[in-house]
Amino acid sequence: MKKETLNIGVLGAGPIAQFAHFESCQKGRNVRLYAICDTAEDLLNRMKAIWQPEKICTDYAQMLADPNLDAVIIATADAYHVPLALMAVRAGKHVLVEKPLSHSMEECKELDEAATKAGVVVQIGHMKRFDPGIEFAKEFIDSQMGNLLALKTWYADNNHRYTTTDNVQPMPIKSENSRKSGTNEKENLERYYMMAHGSHLLDTAMHLGGKIGSLRARLRQMADMYCWFIDAEFENGAVGHLDLTVKIRGDWHEGFHIYGEKGTVFAKTYNPWFYKSSDVECYLEEKQQYLRPLSADGFTYRRQLEHFADVILSHIPQKGTNLLEGMEITKGMLAIKESLEGNKTVYLDQLNGTSF
Ligand SMILES: NC(=O)c1ccc[n+]([C@@H]2O[C@H](COP(=O)([O-])OP(=O)(O)OC[C@H]3O[C@@H](n4cnc5c(N)ncnc54)[C@H](O)[C@@H]3O)[C@@H](O)[C@H]2O)c1
Repeated sequence: MKKETLNIGVLGAGPIAQFAHFESCQKGRNVRLYAICDTAEDLLNRMKAIWQPEKICTDYAQMLADPNLDAVIIATADAYHVPLALMAVRAGKHVLVEKPLSHSMEECKELDEAATKAGVVVQIGHMKRFDPGIEFAKEFIDSQMGNLLALKTWYADNNHRYTTTDNVQPMPIKSENSRKSGTNEKENLERYYMMAHGSHLLDTAMHLGGKIGSLRARLRQMADMYCWFIDAEFENGAVGHLDLTVKIRGDWHEGFHIYGEKGTVFAKTYNPWFYKSSDVECYLEEKQQYLRPLSADGFTYRRQLEHFADVILSHIPQKGTNLLEGMEITKGMLAIKESLEGNKTVYLDQLNGTSF
């Protein structure tokens, strides 16, 4: 009989698990919150009382040894993503790993080889792909737009973001005993913002525009603000402009415009914690009409998990960010760094460095 529900173990009971992953496991149509693992026992017990998983444990290896566990969501600090994903893959478990995948090409390759050998699915948590407005735009681009001329995409985090998110998210439960990665990721803000937000921007750009062949980046830093303007050329010939700006004064500002042979896409994306789908308009020249989806269900974190489970249970093609795409994002971030250091255009298949 076909298995209909995937048993999920969430590794890490920190803020992102509390805000998104536990609820996604609880509400998802084809998943079950089977286990929670965190080294902080006090936090684990509180999560057990709220979310009622079948099992809890402080030892990740023990969770992975459970034959009833099908897949793991890795919701830990960035530096642990690949090492902990590798352990899961080697134990034969499917993996949904939080973004950013990695800062290192070697790490990405090692994980890709191990996942291929184990025959398991690995999906990276770029949940914006499961915003139904963005899904609608992607479908329109692939089926109706013809060749792409140009793509502009922007991701501007704003100075009032925590006022907003503190209002809509529950108060996170914290523990003194939570495991911290040895590195303080916020020590180098240029690197941190690129990993945290630039990875989302590159994922959106490449998901909609295809692989980036080369890019040239500029960075201006002023007060507490950072602004990267990136000129890109996609392998399909389209020209691109990517804008990553942090702490703009005002509201969250994210979206894209895409110009194609047969149509145009205009999109405005909201702060993800509003669970509101992007406003998307796709103009089709043939009909001289705009198409605009309602997209009522904007719970992107639950939707990415349901898709991940569908890929495993029903063998449908993977729409979420896969490991090869994760590697391209890492390459993109490396290329931006090399471009800034050398003040030059960088080709993604001719990078000098392999990690940053
Ligand atoms: N997709 C998104 O929109 C989004 C939003 C926010 C954060 N994130 C990502 O989520 C990740 C986690 O963020 P966070 O703020 O919840 O992290 P956090 O570091 O605050 O919490 C992680 C938890 O994992 C536990 N942990 C770490 N290693 C462990 C191990 N080996 N075994 C058992 N438990 C372990 C820690 O004790 C801690 O409680 C980050 O990589 C971040 O980039 C994604």
